[in-house]
Amino acid sequence: MCGIVGYIGIRQASPILLDGLRRLEYRGYDSAGMALHHGGALDVLRRAGRIDNLKQLVQEQNPQSLAGISHTRWATHGAPTDSNAHPHCDQSGKLALVHNGVIENYQSLRDTLKQDGHTFSSETDTEVLAHLIGHFYDHGNGDPPAAKLVAAVQEALSKVKGTYGIAVIHTDCPDVIVGARLGSPLVVGLGKNEHFLASDVSAIVAHTKDVIYLNDYDVVTITKERYDVTSLEGGRAKVKVSRVDFTEDDAEKGDFPHYMLKEIYEQPNSLRNAMRGRLSRDEATAVLGGLQMTPQELRQIDRIILSACGTACHAGMVGEYLIESLARIPTEVEIASEFRYRNVPTTKDTLQFVISQSGETIDTLAALREARRKGIKCLGIVNNVASTIARETDGGIYIHAGPEIGVAATKSFTSQVAVMALLSLLLGRIHHMSSTDGIEMIDELEAIPDKITEILKQASHIKQIAEKYAHVDGMLFMGRLINYPVALEGALKMKEISYIYASGHPSAELKHGVIALVKPELPSVFIAPHDAVYEKNISNIEEVKARKGPVIAVATEGHPNIEKVADEVIYVPRCPANLSPMLTVVPLQLLSYYVAVARGCDVDKPRNLAKSVTVE
Ligand code: AGP
Repeated sequence: MCGIVGYIGIRQASPILLDGLRRLEYRGYDSAGMALHHGGALDVLRRAGRIDNLKQLVQEQNPQSLAGISHTRWATHGAPTDSNAHPHCDQSGKLALVHNGVIENYQSLRDTLKQDGHTFSSETDTEVLAHLIGHFYDHGNGDPPAAKLVAAVQEALSKVKGTYGIAVIHTDCPDVIVGARLGSPLVVGLGKNEHFLASDVSAIVAHTKDVIYLNDYDVVTITKERYDVTSLEGGRAKVKVSRVDFTEDDAEKGDFPHYMLKEIYEQPNSLRNAMRGRLSRDEATAVLGGLQMTPQELRQIDRIILSACGTACHAGMVGEYLIESLARIPTEVEIASEFRYRNVPTTKDTLQFVISQSGETIDTLAALREARRKGIKCLGIVNNVASTIARETDGGIYIHAGPEIGVAATKSFTSQVAVMALLSLLLGRIHHMSSTDGIEMIDELEAIPDKITEILKQASHIKQIAEKYAHVDGMLFMGRLINYPVALEGALKMKEISYIYASGHPSAELKHGVIALVKPELPSVFIAPHDAVYEKNISNIEEVKARKGPVIAVATEGHPNIEKVADEVIYVPRCPANLSPMLTVVPLQLLSYYVAVARGCDVDKPRNLAKSVTVE
């Protein structure tokens, strides 16, 4: 889950590449580098660490070039060092390559090339691919260099197993860049007298809004004037020019110190966007045209599988409660990385949803492909339009949360839950839900964004609580029923950005072991809105208090008696239990954010993580 940016045109390449890499740094920040055409040779600049290290090197060397490729790395093979940083060159040093993905059979290819006299200077799988393309180029026929390079790329890629998004340059043809993808995203940006390659449109949206989302097995050649897309499977590839629907500023932090905080504060609007045009008061139901299914087809469904990873999986777990309680359709959540290898029995009327913010998570993509292999209809709940998952599903629902840059997912979670609520309303109305209940749910859904605005006003109160507990080594998160997944989500946020060991549990599981952990140094966060199991949560809080465990409670306004048992209370406005996860999660997002800031952590780029996981 590295980031790639390529540029060829009439402007200096290095500032464009650096700016593009900066916008992709959420994909990986172990090292960065670029290779630039320069007077028949290549300038290769690489540095371990953040892009600022590369920027400094570029400022020192001030390379002059109108064409180049660049990379920001999330290390899979080989430690984050200068020598393992991309770009990697071939044996001749005339060819340079950047790669996002994993070459699974690189060991055997490397051994073969070594027998042929190749020597390697890094531990990476990528360097092997550079040498392999170089090998086929050097042994290519007498075609013009650009055609020879494309042929060499195609031949080399036909030998590799794994995933890739690549960009390649060669000194023999300084006026072309060749790119290709399989499993990892790659976008072509169209400009006047210039063209771009990038792993994600956010890297190039400042320069163009006209893009082509490449499909698997596509091979693209870009020059200053034009682009040409062929397929590894032979012949021309079908391409579609799309228009990007967000601005450069949408992908900027603005006045916020971190993307994560900005995205937490964007939730009232992102939720309005998720629901816009999808609530019909006339029919007291939700309108989800993207499903491309008739009410008859929807009524046929006798089982729903929700498959995803990480935060998206937690949103799926909330969806399971919603669909089963409002539509009475048996629903189960499958962690995608397990589902893809587990032979789940299904029925002919099973419907699968894969949920993914990025739309590129490789385990979720594999769960989608496994479902399709079994002939299960598979729809997507995705944020990143035109992403691989969006294009490979039989339809779906975009969550319209806008670009989410912070590695820790926040607004995408609440928007995924909102979409789950819309789906449950639609299915509920097709089955047993009355129009009166439908209207009531529409009223409550439309009230959620303003209620989140109310919660955000408590940020300083939550900050104080966070700073009080920022020194701890562990934290427990407890919730019941539809707020159990919120406990899991709160724990995940705390883990991934503050590195505190946190775990989420159904509150009643305390007595079955978890309570052994309780001690004065271990705070427990209870999600205890005023619902049918509120009193049960209060008893669980008392069990923790009996063992001198500090308790932070998320509770419903107007029910202050919880203050008698909890040390800290964060109130959220009243709402129906079924919709409460969209409110109760917000204090947990802020709590983890302020704890991470108090601990001096890099909130937007937490260690060892990346925004979209495109390698297995
Ligand atoms: C959440 O904060 C993490 N970034 C991670 O768990 C994420 O939810 C998971 O990798 C799934 O990503 P996706 O929604 O883009 O598929």
